[in-house]
Amino acid sequence: MALPNNDNIEDKSREVLAAQAHIWNHTFNFISSMSLKCAIELGIPDIIHSHGRPMTLSDLVNALPINVKSNGEDCIYRLMRMLIHAGFFIQTKINEEEEGYLLTPSSRLLLKDEPDSSMIPFIQVVLDPIMMDPWHYLSQWIQNGGPSPFATAHGKHIYEYAEKAPKFNRIFNEAMASDARLVASMLIKNVKGIFEGLKSLVDVGGGTGSVAKAIAEAFPQINCTVLDLPHVIEGLEGSKNLSFVGGDMFKSVPSADAILLKWILDDWGNEDCIKLLNKCKEAIPSKENGGKVIIIDIVILDSQKGDDKSYETQLYMDMLTMAVVSGKQKTEQEWAKLFYDAGFSDYKIHPILGLTSVIEVYP
Ligand SMILES: C[S@@+](CC[C@H](N)C(=O)[O-])C[C@H]1O[C@@H](n2cnc3c(N)ncnc32)[C@H](O)[C@@H]1O
Repeated sequence: MALPNNDNIEDKSREVLAAQAHIWNHTFNFISSMSLKCAIELGIPDIIHSHGRPMTLSDLVNALPINVKSNGEDCIYRLMRMLIHAGFFIQTKINEEEEGYLLTPSSRLLLKDEPDSSMIPFIQVVLDPIMMDPWHYLSQWIQNGGPSPFATAHGKHIYEYAEKAPKFNRIFNEAMASDARLVASMLIKNVKGIFEGLKSLVDVGGGTGSVAKAIAEAFPQINCTVLDLPHVIEGLEGSKNLSFVGGDMFKSVPSADAILLKWILDDWGNEDCIKLLNKCKEAIPSKENGGKVIIIDIVILDSQKGDDKSYETQLYMDMLTMAVVSGKQKTEQEWAKLFYDAGFSDYKIHPILGLTSVIEVYP
């Protein structure tokens, strides 16, 4: 980390001070996440959005559900300064004396009023104390082993925990659905071709069905099925070409032209991934007859080629899967090995979903 130049400081001291600043920055990284969580809980993006024009600090404070306004003004000013720095808001001149806050593309994805594109549920679950606890057990888990840091913290694998904790089950499924809605809209806009010619598709571990629902609506000729654990799909209703099946994907996968696996294989170790890929292979026709597995997951960028922020975010996701499910984000070489070990003949990566990719895998 570069520090402001000060010619009076000798080189060695400058190096030590830069190292101290670097450590501070990384120790305080969580403050950026927590400031974002605070802004969402206060509803700041929605308030600025519905104001419809640049919003002054005092208008913002007046519109917020704050009981002690005098205290609020200083706190909100500092919170907004942090979040402007992090790229969530901008400040623009209203007139000679006043400036106002506006949303950026990132905070436009944080509107409660626009549930179809809102990433709020995802942030809420990742920063929920239940999901934060495992981080305090990471080193203990690395030293002593066990199913996952989440299981060390809570005594159960996350999906068993969710089965017995209805509130967590709901917020987890809603978080997955919020990402799924965004991804589904991108898929249908940008990579329609992947679904062309299919008559049936099973979304394995498809959660509450956001992706399958969007595919079923965009392609009425495709019969879509969502397979997930019984407590996830309980009470969900299908439509003419969408149905829900409760079951264990490691035991049986319904037959279809294509199997979709979104954010599934990153949850499991290699052995379980191969087992699941084998089940998928049994469920689809040959390559010549249009059979394929469609994977939506991260392909870790080459650290030399990717941009720094994208690579860093992928590494965060990798650590998150380690802490929560003892899973792993994979490089292209690791994906390829998995596909060939599971008996697939070929694959094609489409890096079209930002940090995630669509991978078509052929039997
Ligand atoms: C990380 S979530 C991904 C959900 C969804 N595919 C998405 O991207 O929004 C993993 C999903 O796998 C489901 N799952 C876990 N174990 C399963 C099993 N043995 N059989 C079926 N589904 C399972 C979970 O309930 C959860 O919905």
